Amino acid sequence: MALVTFTSPDYKDKTVYAVAGSHTETLLKIAKGYKVPIDFDCEDGECGTCAVRVKSVDDKQRMGYHLTEKEKSVLREIGKLSKADLEKLIVDDLPSEWRLACQMIVRDEDILVEY
Ligand code: FES
Repeated sequence: MALVTFTSPDYKDKTVYAVAGSHTETLLKIAKGYKVPIDFDCEDGECGTCAVRVKSVDDKQRMGYHLTEKEKSVLREIGKLSKADLEKLIVDDLPSEWRLACQMIVRDEDILVEY
């Protein structure tokens, strides 16, 4: 189980339990299930509408989430990640703060999601 806290300047924070590593539950699916109003459109990693910022709740080193190829190109297109950012993530093997909620599968760690 992972605790996912959704936070937005426009809404009250909401913390929910997510079943980690189910391989089907995307962050967007979880948000929709709990009526968290993350914007979305295509739900297929193409449009970038669902871009969110994901952080560790306690500033621990986050687990190695790897961006999908779709996320890499869309996050670059919408200006969330530069080519240099992407190269640094790969070289340092770091998880990206920016993710597409419709593509991200929740792992077993507590996270803060800014939308
Ligand atoms: S809803 Fe289009 S990229 Fe996620």
